[in-house]
Amino acid sequence: MQRTRWYKDAVFYQIWPRSFCDGNGDGIGDLWGVLGKLDYIASLGVTGIWFSPLYPSPQADFGYDIADYYDINPEYGTLEVFRQVLDGAHERGLKVIMDLVVNHSSDECAWFAESRSSRDNRYADWYIWRDGKTPGSPEEGGTPPNNWDSLFEGKAWEYEPARDQWYLHIFAKKQPDLNMDNPEVRAEVERIMRFWLDMGVDGFREDVITYISKVEGLPDDNPLKPAARGMQFYDHGPHVHEYLRQFRRDVLDDYDCMTVGEAPMISAEKALEYAEEGPDQELDMLFTFEHMGADCLFTDWIPRPFDLRSYKQALGSWQTGLGGRAWNALYIENHDHPRIISRYGSESYRVESGKSLACSYLFLRGTPFVYQGQEIGMTNTHLASVDESADVSTFNQHRLVREMGLSEKAALWLVNRATRDHARTPVQWSSAPGAGFVGGDGTAEPWYPINPNYPVINVAAAEADPHSLLAFYRAAIALRRRLPVVREGGYRELKRASGQLYAYVREGAGQRLLVVCSLSPKTAYFSAPADLDLAAGELCLCGYEDAPLEGNAFFLRPYECRVYLWEDAGEEQVC
Ligand code: NOJ
Repeated sequence: MQRTRWYKDAVFYQIWPRSFCDGNGDGIGDLWGVLGKLDYIASLGVTGIWFSPLYPSPQADFGYDIADYYDINPEYGTLEVFRQVLDGAHERGLKVIMDLVVNHSSDECAWFAESRSSRDNRYADWYIWRDGKTPGSPEEGGTPPNNWDSLFEGKAWEYEPARDQWYLHIFAKKQPDLNMDNPEVRAEVERIMRFWLDMGVDGFREDVITYISKVEGLPDDNPLKPAARGMQFYDHGPHVHEYLRQFRRDVLDDYDCMTVGEAPMISAEKALEYAEEGPDQELDMLFTFEHMGADCLFTDWIPRPFDLRSYKQALGSWQTGLGGRAWNALYIENHDHPRIISRYGSESYRVESGKSLACSYLFLRGTPFVYQGQEIGMTNTHLASVDESADVSTFNQHRLVREMGLSEKAALWLVNRATRDHARTPVQWSSAPGAGFVGGDGTAEPWYPINPNYPVINVAAAEADPHSLLAFYRAAIALRRRLPVVREGGYRELKRASGQLYAYVREGAGQRLLVVCSLSPKTAYFSAPADLDLAAGELCLCGYEDAPLEGNAFFLRPYECRVYLWEDAGEEQVC
C-alpha cells in the first residue's frame, strides 16, 4: 500500500470521551454526544479526531485499562454507533484515530482473568508473572520479584494466590503489563489493529509504546533512586524496535494509516530511532513531553514558575533536531496535563494568553493536536480535598508527598497544581444548567463536577464573540492549512534569549512566516531583523484588535501575538 503521509497536512482534535458531550442524558459523555458535535468539530477546520479509549473498561484509569479490545464501552455506545461516528466523520473530511493501549490491559480483561487462574492455561504467559524474591504471599513474608515502583500505585508487583506468583503493573494494580515477548500477544495486537483498520479507522495513537519491552531478568534498580524505580529497564527496552517494526511490516504497511506513539521521556535524537522516514520506520511521529515540563523540575510534582526559555528550547530542539528526517506531533494540552492557560499563560489574560499559546505551536512543523476545550480556553478547576479527585495517579502522588513529610495543606496545593482532573472536567458548551454537557432533559448529575466558571467560559459565548479564542483558533487553523510553508518550511528562532517573547520564522515554498508571541503580562518589544520588512508583510493574525508598528518594530501588549506573511520569499528548505 502506497503511504501518502496525509497526516502531514492534518490537524487533529482530541476527544476524551467521558467529558466531551453526553448524548443520552446519564451525565457521562458518549458517542451519541459526539455525533451531535461532528459539525462543530469540522467547523474548527481540523481534519481528524483522536479518540482517547472508547473500549469497555472498568475505568480504573478511564479507559486506559481495557477489558475488551474489540468493542465499545456500553456507557459510550455500541459498535453500531461508533460506525455512525466514523462515517459521519469521514463524510465531513475528518480522519479518525483510536487509542491503542497494549503495554497493559485491564485486570478485568478475559485474558488476565484466565492468566491469573493457574500457571497452565491458554493465557498463562500473556502477562509478566514471576516468583517472589522470598516465597509466599505478602502476609507470609513473601516479597516481590524486584524493587520497581509502579507509576500509579505503590510497588510495581501484585501477588496472585492462585499462581503463588506476582504480576507486573507499571501503572495501577488494575493495569497488568502484557508480555510482549510472547509471540501470541504480538499476534493479538496485530489482530486488534486490523479489526479497527478494516472497520475504517485511519490510525492509532499508541499509549506508552516505548515501554512494551522489558529487560530480561527484570533486575533490581538502584534502591536509592527516589521515584520511578525500574524505568530504565522498560523504557526503550531491548526488543521495542523489533516489535514495532513487526507491527508495521505485518499490518500497518497494508493501510494508508498513521501512528503517533506516546514517548514519555525522549529527546529528538532518540525519536529518530522510532520515526526516521525510511524502510525501517516504526512510527509516524511521537508525542514528546519535553516542552510540557517548563513549569516543573523533573516531574509534574516539583513546581517552578513557567520558564519560557525552557519551553522555547524544548520546542526548538525538536524542530531542528529531527533534521527533516522525521515528523513532529505538536500539542500543548491533553487529558494528562492541567489546562495550558492556567499553567503557562494567565487566567487574568485568559483569551490573550490562550491566543499566544496557540500561535506558539500551531505554526511549527508537524501535526498539531487540539484538546477538547482548549479552543475555548477552559481553565483549571479547584479541588477542596484530594478526595474530590477521580484520578488514580493523583492519589498516588498525594500519598507519596505525604510520606515525604509534606503537610496536608502543601500536598493539596500540589494536587491542585498538577492533577489530571483539570483537563477532565466536562466540556462547557453553554451557560445552561449542566453547561450543555448533560444530554437528555439535562437533569442528570455530570460524572465529574463542571468547572464553576462555565457561565462565562463556554462554546456558545465564544461563538457569539468575534474576538473569542475560539474564533482565533479557527482563523489560525485555517491559516496554517492554507500555507505550504508551515508544512515545508525551515525553522529559525529569533530573540532566543528573551524571557518574554517566543519568535520564530518559517521559510520555504516561496513564503516566509513570522510568528511573535508574548508569554508575559508585561509590555514587550520586538524589533524585526532587516530581512523582515514588517510594513511589507501581510498581518495574518493578531491577538488584539489592532497592530500598530513603530518603524520595523512593535510593542506587544500583555500576551499579544502576531503572525506576518511574505509571499514570493524564502528558499525551499527543510529544517
Ligand atoms: C498514558 C495515557 O495518556 C494516560 O492517560 C494513562 O494513564 C497512561 N498512559 C497509562 O495507560
